[in-house]
Parts: sequence; structure tokens; C-alpha cells
Amino acid sequence: MARPFLFGTNFKMNQTPVESATFYRELAATVQISPDTHLFVIPPFTSLSAVNDVGGQPPHKIWVGAQNVHWAPSGAYTGEISVSMLLALEVDLVLLGHAERRRDFHETDDELNRKVLAVLGAGLRVLLAVGETAEERSFGVGGETVLRQLKIGLHGVEPERLNLLQIAYEPVWSIGAGGTPASPGDVEPIASVIRAGCQDLFGGSGDEIPILYGGSVDPSNAGTFTALPDIDGLFVGRAAWTVEGFIATYQAGIHGWEGDRVTG
Ligand code: PGA
Repeated sequence: MARPFLFGTNFKMNQTPVESATFYRELAATVQISPDTHLFVIPPFTSLSAVNDVGGQPPHKIWVGAQNVHWAPSGAYTGEISVSMLLALEVDLVLLGHAERRRDFHETDDELNRKVLAVLGAGLRVLLAVGETAEERSFGVGGETVLRQLKIGLHGVEPERLNLLQIAYEPVWSIGAGGTPASPGDVEPIASVIRAGCQDLFGGSGDEIPILYGGSVDPSNAGTFTALPDIDGLFVGRAAWTVEGFIATYQAGIHGWEGDRVTG
């Protein structure tokens, strides 16, 4: 089965509900969605309801995602959000393990595994982010780090849930305004470690899991990453925070991906 192309953005802690809904409405009205492509937007929790009210019809609905969730169904977890709360808001996808959550909020692989199982168990899509720090890279354990995150994060995932799963590879050193953009040569070996890890965990079905790349992606470099054989999409921050930037980066990405399909 051919893997789809995925492209989306995470607003992080930016935007009010009105701003997010305006972005989503303009994007949905403007973007030309290619076949075999899924787009997504991940606003803050407080914007989810406003964005979903804008709507859209399958198969062209732009998925709406949450930036995090708690693993427990309910309980004494002040400030947290449960999977059933997200289901009630009709979200399509939950981002788990973003580098900022791992670094600033000390999320562990074991906690992320509990979150992955809770989200998939509810029938929601997961976008699990993995990536090594600059220090881990300097010690030559980038591949090992990402493999550990993947294997613990996906431990116990049932094969019948794999159609809900996508992985984002985001080297921590490449993310955000202070990041150093990665080259395709940096990304390719780790993407193939992730692909091999998926195969190790799930056999041949591991080939069907889309792997996205993220970290300082913009229209100038998007196609260089998606031309890599194991990369099936992009997870973009700053460059996709305007509708024009989102569309330009998506188009550059799909161009590289389609070229890869022709030659690959
Ligand atoms: P960036 O963010 O594209 O602004 O580097 C990527 C991310 O944090 O996922």
C-alpha cells in the first residue's frame, strides 16, 4: 500500500480562537489539496472548538489536531486534558512528544507510551514526534536515541491501529528560531533508522507508517526532505504560520515527494 503525503503545522502557544479559525477558514478556501494528501493544523486547546466549527467535508477536511493529552481517562490532574475531552471536540489527531514537551515539561518515553496507547485506543490519530538533541548527536547516538523513543513510545501498539499512526522526525537542534537547519544528508540516515525500527516492531506493516520531517522547514528546503525515500511529509512551525507560507511550503514539499515517487 502506498503511503500518503502528510503536511501540517503546529501553532505552539500562539493564536487566539478567532485568529486560529480565521487561518483555518482562509486555508481551506485557498489550498488545492493534491490526491493522496492529508493536511492538518494543530492549534492550542483553546482554539480547537472555534477551528472545528469552521468545518469542512471529507475527504478534503483539513485535520484538526491537539498539541498534547493526558493518558488517564479522568482524575485529579489539574491543568490536563483527557482523550474523551478531545473526542467531544471532534479532533482528528493528537500530537505527542514534541521536543518542547520532552525538554520543558520533562515528558518521558514511558509517559508518552501511555498517551499513545490511550489516543489510539480511542480511535484517534497520533503524530508521535521523535528527535535527538545536539548533545546526543555530538556523541554519535542520534540514531540510538530516536530508536529508543520510537520503541518505548510505540510499545504495545496493536497492528490494527497502525493506520492511525504517523511519526515526525524532528532533530531538536534544528527546531525554532535558534535552530540550525538540517540537510537531507542529516535526515536520511535517521529516517531509515525510524523505518527499520517500525519494521522491527510491526513487520511488513511498519512500511505503511508515514514519517514526516520537521525542523526549520520552509519553501526553499521542503522538497529536498520529501525527495528522501523514507520521508512522506512535513511538520512545519514558523514557515507555515501564514496561509501563504503554509501553501508555499506544502507545494514545495509535494513537488519533492512526487519527484521521489517518479524516480524511486
Ligand atoms: P520550526 O518548528 O519549523 O519553526 O523550526 C518545527 C517544530 O517545532 O515542530
